[in-house]
Amino acid sequence: MKITAVLLAAGQGTRMKSDFPKVLHPLCGRPMLWHVLEALKSVATEKPVVVVGHGAREVKKYLADSAECVLQEPQLGTGHAAMQAESVLKGKTDYVIVTYADMPLLRGETFQRLFETQRSNAGPFSLLTVTADDPRGFGRIVRKADGTVAAIVEEYVATPEQRAIKELNVGAYCFKAEWLWDALHRIRKNLQKGEYYLTDVVELAVKDNLPVQAVVHNDFIETIGINTRVHLSEAESALRMRINSEHMLNGVSMMDPASTYIEVGAKIGKDTVIMPNTYIDGNTEIGEANVIGPNTIIYDSRIGQRCKVLASVMEGAVLEDDVNIGPFARLRKGAHLKGHVHMGNFGEVKDSTLGEGVKMGHFSYIGNATIGANTNIGAGTITANYYCEKKNPTEIGEDVFIGSDTMLVAPLKIGDGARTGAGAVVTKNVAEDTLVVGMPARAIRKLERKKKG
Ligand code: UD1
Ligand code: CA
Repeated sequence: MKITAVLLAAGQGTRMKSDFPKVLHPLCGRPMLWHVLEALKSVATEKPVVVVGHGAREVKKYLADSAECVLQEPQLGTGHAAMQAESVLKGKTDYVIVTYADMPLLRGETFQRLFETQRSNAGPFSLLTVTADDPRGFGRIVRKADGTVAAIVEEYVATPEQRAIKELNVGAYCFKAEWLWDALHRIRKNLQKGEYYLTDVVELAVKDNLPVQAVVHNDFIETIGINTRVHLSEAESALRMRINSEHMLNGVSMMDPASTYIEVGAKIGKDTVIMPNTYIDGNTEIGEANVIGPNTIIYDSRIGQRCKVLASVMEGAVLEDDVNIGPFARLRKGAHLKGHVHMGNFGEVKDSTLGEGVKMGHFSYIGNATIGANTNIGAGTITANYYCEKKNPTEIGEDVFIGSDTMLVAPLKIGDGARTGAGAVVTKNVAEDTLVVGMPARAIRKLERKKKG
């Protein structure tokens, strides 16, 4: 048995007021469209078909070969959009699940329930509805006396009695394929809007005396559709809560889930605590028993176990176990901090490895360097790594003591056990166990002090 999903994504999304296709606006780090396709994977057996129109080039580029795209040009309504799938699907699938790409919170289980209902329905299709006090402009479900669905009435044509109906059309339908293709050709153009409405298939089935089943969904949140940016933010916070709840149920603590921003795809181990105002992107993996935040931003990074990351920014960085950074540390691409490293305030590390137990307490910049185990980097130390458009390397051995405010002019090697004095400007390699000092300040003249008063 073949089940194929058809996603309608050709509309302009005028109400978004955007130059960017509506279905590519992101929610928790992934485009709206991604969320719908992901949910449909749990029921569809075939490659999905996406109907594209407005912004077709960008949408197609995003989808690449994850879906079959068909073009709807011009866009004459949801019925006309669904019709475009016929050319690629006719005779090739048993069931078609049609849904709108602007409904990103619908879950896989919900589509499964819809399909199961249709499988046992003698009629041509089933649809998803929800009962809610706030109609949000959704179509109203009109039922017959026997309880079967009689029609879907769009809000702008509804009578006051119909407007008062609380059962709404969510926008997910499961059709017997062959019936659908035929029905789509029978939909008449809506004269007021000049569009062909997919929702009119209900009346066609009713005319043919065929039963339409409704699956009444009880989770209104899941049925948030996105027409405006206000809806987008509502969907984003609902999705954020869903993601955060999953992490919490897996053993992650959050002091304030409402101000914890974790994108789809991030992995976090148990007993890790995420403090408020923390942002973690989808390519990040965090191990167990860490304390992350408050006020932390992490992109594309790996964190081991028992680390503390306070008010810091990590981009493409790695922390092994028991590392402690911040407040106000910045780890850039290629920063790798081995076990028990301590990095304090106002430090920056880029393309460098800090060995086991390195201490770098305050105000330092380390770039293109490797630092051996247990070395101490004094306050204000700088690797002067950039010269004539070239990044030069610095190699510092183990158990080295770099004095405060040392300038390490790369390329440079400093042997194990060496020391530099405060303010040293080191331009030549330093041998093992050697002390180098810079120029100490000399008295050059006596000053006259102005007497006060
Ligand atoms: C639609 C339903 C309404 C339902 C609501 C739920 C119709 C006529 N109405 O209204 O009953 O309650 O969704 O969200 O179906 N699209 C195309 N081509 C077009 C027009 C639209 O692909 O020519 C796509 C859009 O990109 C969008 C989806 O279809 O993803 C829905 O279109 P939209 O204009 O948002 O419909 P609603 O007014 O929300
Ligand atoms: Ca919509």
